[in-house]
Amino acid sequence: MKALILSGGKGTRLRPLTYTGAKQLVPVANKPILWYGIEAIVAAGITEIGIIISPETGEEIKTQTGNGERFGAKITYILQDSPDGLAHAVKIAQPFLGDSPFLMYLGDNLIQSDLNSFLEEFRSKKLDSLILLCAVPNPSAFGVAKVDEGGRVLQLVEKPKVPPSNLALVGIYFFDRAIHEAISNIQPSARGELEITDAIQYLIDREKQVTARQLEGWWLDTGKKDDLLEANRIILDTRLELSVEGEVDEKSQIIGRVKIGAGSRIVNCSIRGPVVIGRECHLENCFIGPYSSIADRATLIDVDLEHSVILQAARITGIEQRIVDSAIGQRAQLKAASQRPKALRFLIGDDSQIELC
Ligand code: G1P
Repeated sequence: MKALILSGGKGTRLRPLTYTGAKQLVPVANKPILWYGIEAIVAAGITEIGIIISPETGEEIKTQTGNGERFGAKITYILQDSPDGLAHAVKIAQPFLGDSPFLMYLGDNLIQSDLNSFLEEFRSKKLDSLILLCAVPNPSAFGVAKVDEGGRVLQLVEKPKVPPSNLALVGIYFFDRAIHEAISNIQPSARGELEITDAIQYLIDREKQVTARQLEGWWLDTGKKDDLLEANRIILDTRLELSVEGEVDEKSQIIGRVKIGAGSRIVNCSIRGPVVIGRECHLENCFIGPYSSIADRATLIDVDLEHSVILQAARITGIEQRIVDSAIGQRAQLKAASQRPKALRFLIGDDSQIELC
C-alpha cells in the first residue's frame, strides 16, 4: 500500500498568506497542516508516500518536509506542471504508484479519526474504492454523494448547485488500480480539470466495489481563514500538552495547557491556554488568551491576543484593542503610531483583510 498526498494548488482562498508560501505549510498549532496528514498516514502503517507538488510552491514543501526520515517514511516528490485536477495528479503519479493500491490524501485536509479502520475495511473487503463522507451545512462547496441506506454510493457530483444530499466527499480516498483505467476514460469538467469525483463515478457506473463511510469525528478543510482558525482551535484543544522550555519571569502567569519553545522569553505576561508559542519568541506585557498559536521568532509587546494564528517573525507592538480571530503572516508588522499626527498608516499586501473598530 502506498499513499499519494496532493500538495499543489494555488491556495487562493487563503491569500495573502499563500502569496509567499504553500497553503499546506500554513501552520496549525505551529505545525504545517501537511505534516498532520503525513503523520496520520505513517500511523496507519503506510510509509511509501508520494507528494504531488506544483512549480510555485514545490521547492518550499520539499525543503521543509524533506525525504520523510523525520516521519519514518520515504517521500518521493512528483511535480505537477499545471493544476489540471485531482485525477490528473493521480495520472502523473502512475509511475510511482504502479499497480499498488493507494490512499489519496488532500494535503489541506485534517480529520479527527485515525485511518486504520478505513484501511482495514478497504483491504478486507477488497474494495475498488473506499470514500469518506461528512455531513456539512454547505455541500455545494464540495463533491457531494447520494447514498442508499446501506452506505452504497449511488451518485457523486462535484460542487453541485443543487446538492443531492448534505454529504460532502472528504479529501481522503482509498483506491485500487481500477482507478487508473477510470481516469483514462473521463473528460475534463466544466472548470477544465480531470475530477477524481468523475473517476469514482465511472467506477460506480461499472458496478465496481465502491463503499462510503461516514466520518464520526470532525473534518476540516483548512483552505480558508476561518477553517484555519477552527483547525487551530481543535488541535490546541485536543492535542496540546503542557511544556515550558523557554524562560518565564516571575511576574508572568501561565494558566492551563501552554507550550513555550526553547529560547523564548516571556516577561510580565498572562497566558491562558491552550496556547502554543514557538522558539525564540519575545513576549512582554501581553495577555495571550485561549486558542492562540504564535510561531517561532515572533515578537509581541503590549498586546492582548486571543483565538489567533501568528506566523514566523511577525512583530506586534503597542496595540490597544484586543486582537481576536486573526491570522497574521510571516514578518508582518503591526504597531502603534509613534509619530504625530496620530493616524493609521498602512503598507498592506494584496488581498489582505483588515477590520478596524
Ligand atoms: C476537492 C474535491 C472535492 C472534495 C474536496 C475536499 O475540492 O474536488 O470533491 O469534497 O476537495 O476537500 P477542492 O478543494 O479542489 O475544491
